[in-house]
Amino acid sequence: MSTVLITGCSSGFGLDNAQVFLDRGWSVIATMRTPREDVLPASDRLRILPLDVTDPASIAQCVAAAGPFDVLVNNAGVGQMSPLEGVSMDKIRELFETNTLGTIAMTQAVIPQMREQGSGVIVNVTSGVTFQPLPLMSIYTASKAAVNAFTESVALELEPLGVRVRIVIPGRAPETPFGDNARARMGLNIPEAYQALAAPMMGRFGAGGDITTSRDVSEAVWRAATDPACPMRLPAGADAVARFNAAK
Ligand SMILES: NC(=O)c1ccc[n+]([C@@H]2O[C@H](COP(=O)([O-])OP(=O)(O)OC[C@H]3O[C@@H](n4cnc5c(N)ncnc54)[C@H](OP(=O)(O)O)[C@@H]3O)[C@@H](O)[C@H]2O)c1
Repeated sequence: MSTVLITGCSSGFGLDNAQVFLDRGWSVIATMRTPREDVLPASDRLRILPLDVTDPASIAQCVAAAGPFDVLVNNAGVGQMSPLEGVSMDKIRELFETNTLGTIAMTQAVIPQMREQGSGVIVNVTSGVTFQPLPLMSIYTASKAAVNAFTESVALELEPLGVRVRIVIPGRAPETPFGDNARARMGLNIPEAYQALAAPMMGRFGAGGDITTSRDVSEAVWRAATDPACPMRLPAGADAVARFNAAK
């Protein structure tokens, strides 16, 4: 039986990912900053462990407690929407600590055991904004584009060791609490000079058109985890697939 460790399972994509791997017979280590036993159905194949990807001690404890596993999904992330002028450097650092350095730190922490196993898969969840630049998203986009570049490079050094690394690129998923969580943590400061730019962006989140669902992302993560022929960059969701193909 295979085992997956997923970061950020308290809601959204991570929670659905955990459910999909459980449904398909895997053992799942669902990690959360604040562990909750009530968000997933009880199973003898499910373990819930605390993990804050910005905290080195938390990472070390989690990886030690997890024991060997086959797949790491770096899903934890936080959003941010603001003109560059409206966001403090502290908030910018906090975003990079989670989205970029958190992913890098988790990857580094699991390499020794995957190298010793001679096998393993690491799946990094980034965002469709990395191939469709949008205003007010420069910091978030930079934090995720750095993960794309990091992944493609580190994949080359891990491949000879038997470890595969892939990127899943979701589109816009209004179904998850991502936007609310982002506003709660990062604030929303749109200075007057940017209000005209911001209006269509705000409308975009409630707007129709193609979207991504949590299940689209879970299916893409599943493919990245289980299909050795999976391409390096895998868009997830109708909007992400369309934009990815248009950008090629
Ligand atoms: N929804 C979208 O439109 C969208 C589109 C493209 C990409 N993405 C990406 O997809 C991923 C999941 O997003 P989502 O839509 O599922 O949003 P979400 O429901 O807000 O989930 C984000 C998860 O990350 C966790 N997290 C945040 N900071 C963390 C930290 N320091 N350590 C560990 N866990 C942390 C959150 O835990 P807490 O509850 O403890 O905060 C939560 O479980 C993110 O990387 C996001 O950037 C989302």
